[in-house]
Amino acid sequence: MNKVANYDTLDYDYSTYWKKREYEHQSEQLVLKKLFKNIKNGKWFIDIGGSYGRLLPSYYDIYSNPIIVDYSLKTLQKNYEHIRKDFPRVELIAANAYFLPFKSNTFNGGLMVRVLHHLDRPLEYFKEIYRVMSPNGIYIQEFANKAHIKAVLRALFKLDFSVFNKEPYQQPKKGNDEGAKRGAYVPFLNYHTSWIQEKLKDLGFKIGRKYGCSFLRLNIFKKLFKTRTLLFFEKIFQTAFSWVNISPSIFIKSIAEKEITEKEYSELNQILACPKCKGNLEISSTKAICTHCKKEFNKNENIWDFRI
Ligand SMILES: C[S@@+](CC[C@H](N)C(=O)[O-])C[C@H]1O[C@@H](n2cnc3c(N)ncnc32)[C@H](O)[C@@H]1O
Ligand SMILES: [Zn+2]
Repeated sequence: MNKVANYDTLDYDYSTYWKKREYEHQSEQLVLKKLFKNIKNGKWFIDIGGSYGRLLPSYYDIYSNPIIVDYSLKTLQKNYEHIRKDFPRVELIAANAYFLPFKSNTFNGGLMVRVLHHLDRPLEYFKEIYRVMSPNGIYIQEFANKAHIKAVLRALFKLDFSVFNKEPYQQPKKGNDEGAKRGAYVPFLNYHTSWIQEKLKDLGFKIGRKYGCSFLRLNIFKKLFKTRTLLFFEKIFQTAFSWVNISPSIFIKSIAEKEITEKEYSELNQILACPKCKGNLEISSTKAICTHCKKEFNKNENIWDFRI
């Protein structure tokens, strides 16, 4: 069983994290706007680890059937009413990114932002996301950049060149208890850009545009300048420095290349599958039973619980 960063253990309200991070939030919206440019009339979309729907405005008008998947059942239950009020077409589903409860070749679009650092088996996850993407489905992967400029400068100063090797890097514990008991081990991994690109490519994704994000994420800048000013420069840097990997966060767009023909599904029940064995489900209003392995799943307070 994979370790999961379970935000429910401490009742962690992730939305509080964003109270003082308007610059980072707007920076991400700017990148997503660029990456979604020219995409129209998509159908099924998956936001993995989508939490309380912070990024919904970036894809809601492009895809007719968006789904937020998150391991934190409590977050989805708590936020269901107000998310659905503003975004009535979105479905919220509790599931583990490693074991997605969907049929293969379903999603025309998908993204994962600020979640990959929690996954200590990223390759297993990449296989799973590739499985559920439809042929030519567009998938956007964000990750914390191991070789961002501060890390490189620090490495040069210490003459420690491990920052340049491509292997994922587990950040020291200090300050990284996100969603876990203080001091408990949680994966908090930073990744090398070419490692991510290679692994996605090996699975069948064609690598597309890449953008750095949050170039000015430094307390000193935030103290000295207004968010508006930071965003003015951020916009310029995102375009001017898209060829180097110096920012703390990086977004990569990819396309799932597959031979098979795309199937047309219109209802949620048609795309659901057993997260464990991928068998078909017998679905009633509050229960789903796998016809193959017989595992049962329930719908609680409007949210399907497919976590395994
Ligand atoms: C730092 S938050 C990011 C939320 C959102 N993507 C955003 O950028 O606003 C990480 C989210 O990933 C979820 N998560 C962590 N591990 C997961 C897993 N294995 N499967 C599904 N969700 C997971 C957490 O519950 C949490 O909501
Ligand atoms: Zn099953």
